[in-house]
Parts: sequence; C-alpha cells; structure tokens
Amino acid sequence: MDEAGAGRRRQNEVYRAGVYGHTPRVPVAARKLQQAAKKALNPRAYAYVAGGAGDEVTQRANRAAFDTWAVVPRVLRDVSSRDTSVEIFGRRIPAPVLLGPVGALELVHDEADRAVARAAAATGVPMVFSNQGSFSMEECAAVMGDSPRWFQLYWSTSDELVESLVGRAAKAGCDAIVVTLDTTMLGWRPRDLDLGHLPFALGKGIAQYTSDPVFRRLVEEKVAAGGPRQPQPRPTPAAVKALVSMAKAWPGSFRDNLRSPLPRAAVETFLGIYSRPSITWDDLAWLRSKTRLPILLKGVLHPDDARRALDEGVDGLVVSTHGGRQVDRSISALDALPEVLGAVAGRAPVLLDSGVRTGGDVFTAVALGATAVLLGRPFAWGLALGGEEGVKQVISDVLGEFDLTLGLTGHTAVDQLSPDVLRRVG
Ligand code: FNR
Ligand code: LAC
Repeated sequence: MDEAGAGRRRQNEVYRAGVYGHTPRVPVAARKLQQAAKKALNPRAYAYVAGGAGDEVTQRANRAAFDTWAVVPRVLRDVSSRDTSVEIFGRRIPAPVLLGPVGALELVHDEADRAVARAAAATGVPMVFSNQGSFSMEECAAVMGDSPRWFQLYWSTSDELVESLVGRAAKAGCDAIVVTLDTTMLGWRPRDLDLGHLPFALGKGIAQYTSDPVFRRLVEEKVAAGGPRQPQPRPTPAAVKALVSMAKAWPGSFRDNLRSPLPRAAVETFLGIYSRPSITWDDLAWLRSKTRLPILLKGVLHPDDARRALDEGVDGLVVSTHGGRQVDRSISALDALPEVLGAVAGRAPVLLDSGVRTGGDVFTAVALGATAVLLGRPFAWGLALGGEEGVKQVISDVLGEFDLTLGLTGHTAVDQLSPDVLRRVG
C-alpha cells in the first residue's frame, strides 16, 4: 500500500508534466477519449468498436443505469492510506478491474492484443485474452511475465478445438476460463451491416484459431478434400485487399500465402466453426471435465440462470450485455446486477461489464456488490490513440479515480463498500 495512492500518483504525474506544457497523450475524459479515437480511426474500425445491436438502446441503458445511483460521501475518517486491491481466485490484483476480452483489435492498432498485454503487465491489471484475438494467447503471455491473465472462450462447433483452446490457456498461464454465452451468434449490428464489414471474414481476429494445431488440421483437411468450390471473387480493389488481409492471417511466408488456398480456407473454416448456438446447461459438465481452471459464465443477466450456474458448479459469473452488441433493449448490466447477486448469495465472484467508463463507475458497481469490473471499449480507444502507452494511461486513469473516490467517500479498503454507500436517484 502506497501512502500517495494510485490517484494522487497519477494526478502528480499529469500536473507535473503540465508545468512543462505536456498534456496527457490520450484524453482523460471518457467522452473525449471516444471522440478522439473516432477521428483517428477509419470508419470501419470505429463502427466495429463503437457499434451495438439494433438501435443501440442497450448501450445507452448501460450508461444511464450508472446515473440512477448516487454516492453519499462520509467525512472525518482518516483516509490518508488506502488499499484498492482485491483478491480473486486466490490472487491479489491492484484494483477490482480487469481488461475484458475485446476481439479484432488489429482494426485499431497493429500491435493489438500484444500492446494490451504489455500495458496489463505493466500495471498488474489482469487481461482476459479474447478468443477473437489478433495475437495468439501464447504471444500475449510471452510479454506478460507472471502477470495475471484469463482466457475467454467461444464454444466452437468442434469439441476438439474447444479442448485444444482450454488446454493452451492452462499452458499459457491463464488463471480462469470465461465462457461467453451471449454471442452464440453475432447480434444484429446495423453499423457493420451498412458497411458490409465483418473483420473475421477478412481474416482479422482469428489468431487463436490459426495458431491452433486442431484448427490448422481442419483447414488442411478442408483444402485436401477440395471442398465445395467457392466462386472466385472478381478482382476488385476490395477483393485484392481482402486476399492480402487473409494471407497475413495465416502463419508462414506472406508471399506463399498469397498463392495458397489455405488462408481463404482458414476464413471459411472459421466462419463454419465459430460458435455453437445449440449449447445447453448439459454441455457444461463436458467443459468442466476438460479443464481444472475456474470457469466463469459471461453474459448472465437473469437471476434464475445465475442460480442454475452456481448449482451446476460454475466458479463465477460476468453480468454483461456484451456492451450492448448482442440484444437491443436488453436490461442493462448494472440494473441486472442486484438480482443476480441475490441469487448467487455470495457463493462465487460476480463480475460486471458494459458501460464502465470511469473509476467512479467502478466504485458504483463494486458498492452494489460486484467483485470486480471488466473494462471494454475505453482501453480499445486508448490503444487506438496511443498503443501500449494509451492503454496504460486509460488503466491508470480509471485506477486513479477509483482510489480517490474510495478515499474521498470515507473508505480505505474495497471491502468497506456496500450498497449502503449509495442512494437510488433515478
Ligand atoms: C467485445 N466484447 C467481447 N466479448 C467477448 O467475450 N469476446 C470478444 O471477443 C469480444 N469482442 C469485443 C470486441 C469489441 C470491439 C467490443 C467493443 C466488445 C465484449 C466485451 O468483453 C465487453 O463485454 C464489452 O466491451 C463491455 O461493454 P463496454 O463497457 O465496452 O461498452
Ligand atoms: C464482438 C465479438 C467478437 O462483440 O465478441 O464483436
């Protein structure tokens, strides 16, 4: 525990640099951060990250829900020394904050997940590797030392691939598997549809697959079998770009890949295998038998699902609307949290994401009872604007504000927070 705390350290750093005319590389205010990223990114990349399902009502609801809670600060309680750390699955982490799984980050920065992994390791904040990563989990783990990391799984139609992925996660030092259940199919996303843009169809965000021995075997078998002949795309500039993009996604020599059928077959294999809408509660036991790591379910919003998950032996939950990208007019994650917590009744950690933008938001979610929160879009914007440094800054800003909010409301440790520090105002 540092006397100064993360908040004052970050303020000092910024204000000292300001004396010499330097201002933060990426905007501190969440709204400005997104606006700056919008200017920096090409329209497809921006649309993919910013966009949500349908009319994006869920996305707005995720934010609005935070405004329905107010903090009631307390005074005269010696808050000079504070500890923002929490323990999760036997590990102490600097604050109740993780970096959530965000796929296809190569759209916003060439170093993508690898830059995020470095920033996570530099700050000690756990990173959840996306199953749709642009770098493999091994490449990310290699730059993280002993820093905590988890793996997010999309349940593929190939059991063998799922088994391979969770086995690799354990070997790569992951502390937990997060199974995302709200995206057994991609939601209806007008911004991407209007641009006709799906990163995976261009070979972006499929590095966990192309680095996987089972997946590669499936691709090679597909090519060997000849498969149903796909009509060759007309050589428009877009088609040539797509071919280049796919060739980059396949390991080995780029020049060879341009001539090889494997990259295109990899994309087709991925699109065929991506996810399994048929999964049910009965499948969980199979996954349980394939890994000793704690299993969390991401995308749980109904208390009955939460109760069932715990009864089935699941180790934790992530209350999430996938950032409003899946079901429009869904209940917001924060509004769903209290009932889920009631159903779980302290039996397992319950994390939350969707709409967390600031340290103040972290405070509210944790006061309501979340064990920790996952950041999503904010660190993707930081990555877009400043690579590893940008992500690091976003993390430092969120942790800094959380630390100050903790102290300024009269608390010195996270376990002192409870719903009693909040009032419903909306
Ligand atoms: C995501 N999310 C996500 N979730 C997941 O389980 N696997 C994934 O690969 C992705 N990919 C992804 C890409 C992009 C561009 C976004 C914005 C989100 C969802 C993510 O983990 C998290 O639930 C949301 O980002 C939370 O919402 P906010 O706070 O970012 O609005
Ligand atoms: C998304 C998927 C990759 O939200 O999770 O785009």
